[in-house]
Amino acid sequence: MKTEKLFVDADKSDKGIISRAARYLQKGELVAFPTETVYGLGANALDAKAVNRIFEAKGRPQDNPLIVHVSSIEMAQELVLDDLSDYKWLVELLWPGPVTIIFRKARKIPDIVTAGLPTVGIRFPSHPVAQKLIEIAGLPIAAPSANLSGRPSPTDEFHVIEDMDGRIACMLLAGKTLFGLESTIVDLSRGKPTLLRPGPISVERLKTLLPDLEVPEFVKAEEKYSGPALAPGMKYRHYSPKIELILVEGDPRERYKEITDFAFEKNSIILCSRETAHLYPREIRRIVLGSRENLYEVAANLFDALREPGEEFERMVSESFPESGVGLAIMNRLRKAAWKIM
Ligand code: TXA
Ligand code: MG
Repeated sequence: MKTEKLFVDADKSDKGIISRAARYLQKGELVAFPTETVYGLGANALDAKAVNRIFEAKGRPQDNPLIVHVSSIEMAQELVLDDLSDYKWLVELLWPGPVTIIFRKARKIPDIVTAGLPTVGIRFPSHPVAQKLIEIAGLPIAAPSANLSGRPSPTDEFHVIEDMDGRIACMLLAGKTLFGLESTIVDLSRGKPTLLRPGPISVERLKTLLPDLEVPEFVKAEEKYSGPALAPGMKYRHYSPKIELILVEGDPRERYKEITDFAFEKNSIILCSRETAHLYPREIRRIVLGSRENLYEVAANLFDALREPGEEFERMVSESFPESGVGLAIMNRLRKAAWKIM
């Protein structure tokens, strides 16, 4: 299949170009599009045949449900049984933005979208291109991240091209995404609001809005908590870099010697912070993810680093980051990506 690549300006949201992409969605075809978290791979959420193409293009297991993207709270209301006016204070503060909320699903959403679950994850993205695309198509858009299943989520246009060129009808390309990590997922369909996936909106922030938010231990993705998953997708291997990744837990200022030793065993790259990069010998290749003082910078660069090792390298060794704020999401992704955690 020839993939039509449409380049758009992230800020100006060019209507003519986006309308072209919207027509593919209306015809039941797949369109990759930018969001403020990662690129999504979209299909008309109300068309089971179109949604099935997502699973084929990604090689995604059918028991892993998709998030449905909307461009207004009214559109979200059409898709869920819960009365969103009961959650007005919450959704109006969190949306549009990088948070997915799980509600009880309406009948019109085909089972393939939710992998047969009685609930559905709804997200109202803040990226202007995503919003315009949904608005112009006039459809809710089911979309997982636009990577091949198991690979790191795409945070830049060339990641989307690498994974999806030739597999889908169209891609809207608008450069690098803002957060670089997938949305925070909060489940409101159970007794207590529960965090299912840490993301750009932190637990600290969510707890100011949902004081009784449950934060299960598994969101840390530590190996000892690999029990039954509440979010079905969590049991699958994620974010796999092409070469082995060793994650060294703890403060790198105390563990830099071990990091260095692991790096010397094979031709390696060290993933580190700006503040600690100087701890490692110059002859070892380093990727500085960002500053420990601004974990959003680390988050934004993480998936690109995991994706890009380059042919000559055999191993990546990564520092750990503090688990506060967006750091919890960073550590969740690093632990899931790691071949070995030391
Ligand atoms: O930022 C994001 O969320 C991106 C952009 C494209 O919006 N999307 C994304 O989708 O990360 P995906 O498919 O890669 O991850 C969706 C996660 C999966 O772990 C899935 O199991 C979970 O959401 N999920 C979806 N529907 C669910 C439901 N009804 N109950 C529990 N978990 C659900
Ligand atoms: Mg994904």
